[in-house]
Amino acid sequence: MSAPIADPTRRLTPVVRLAPAKLNLTLAVVGRRPDGYHQLHSVFVPLGLADRLSLSVGVGQAGVDRDSLHVAGFDAGPPEGNLVLRAIAATRVAVGGGWAGGPGPAPALAARLEKRIPVAAGLAGGSSDAAAAMDGSLEAWGAELDPDVRRATAARLGSDVPFFLAGGPALVEGRGEVVAPLHGLHTGPGVLLVTPAVPLSTPEVFAVFDGLGGHGNGSTRMSSAHLAEELRSGLTAADLVARAGVLTVANDLLQAAFVVVPALVPFRRALSRLLARPIGLSGSGPTLWALYPSKAEAAAAADLVQVSVGDGRLPAPGSNAPFVTATTILTGRQQEREL
Ligand code: C5P
Repeated sequence: MSAPIADPTRRLTPVVRLAPAKLNLTLAVVGRRPDGYHQLHSVFVPLGLADRLSLSVGVGQAGVDRDSLHVAGFDAGPPEGNLVLRAIAATRVAVGGGWAGGPGPAPALAARLEKRIPVAAGLAGGSSDAAAAMDGSLEAWGAELDPDVRRATAARLGSDVPFFLAGGPALVEGRGEVVAPLHGLHTGPGVLLVTPAVPLSTPEVFAVFDGLGGHGNGSTRMSSAHLAEELRSGLTAADLVARAGVLTVANDLLQAAFVVVPALVPFRRALSRLLARPIGLSGSGPTLWALYPSKAEAAAAADLVQVSVGDGRLPAPGSNAPFVTATTILTGRQQEREL
């Protein structure tokens, strides 16, 4: 038997990471920062819906010294602009010569990304891919980073990236870089996601929010603090479903998103009537969500939505049909097992 290969450039199997989507159960905007970003108080939860990223070192790419990216699934735009490539490059800089085959720079990676999370949907798929790329390239190179350097590198890539490095539900504050894990969710409820096919840019929603006065609602902040406290001490899926009425309005970006895409208002109302449930907006939208005690119940709701869109009972904004899926909120423990 040969000795284990220490040199990562001889690694034969790719490093694989699942990059989960996120939902904001609450989103309070509590101030504006001098750098133009907004100060948040938000409970983020990871979802079972995930992109899949694989990273290979060297294999079959003799002579290639540049990172490459191949994307399948949802259209994520040109690969050159993808956060995965920026995350690999930023991680290489942070690692310097400190990888298993150092002291030169860490070798090029061939990345394959299966996009299952809709793009620009308020589900932070791109940020999650970036966190997965950071984590995966460290493994591929046999490198480690000081936690502070990891967090700083993640924050530079995007406001939502540090959340994904932590894993599990968390209270997110500051611009997104202050992440406090919440360990009290015992079971994850089912989640219905409905993403209308309408473009919604996060900077535009924040700009409209500022134009509307730039003040969050005090009750959103209170709901957010209350939920964070409960998720710290212990909550079941049923407890969370029982709070859906409060949570689905605890998003300070709701009005701004409705100004940018007015068709979201009647669509959300019709969805709520069809399902007899309160409907929330994730982040800056346009994804709408509802909580269910189980994934099976969320799946039945997803079927009903799809049939209703198909037969014209539920007119959806956008030129294409909405993306509709049933998933679950991952508790921290589940995420460790699944990812
Ligand atoms: O950090 P990221 O590039 O993901 O943010 C996208 C946009 O969202 C920013 O350009 C900014 O307009 C807005 N944003 C914000 N405050 C935050 C996070 C994002 O204003 N805390």
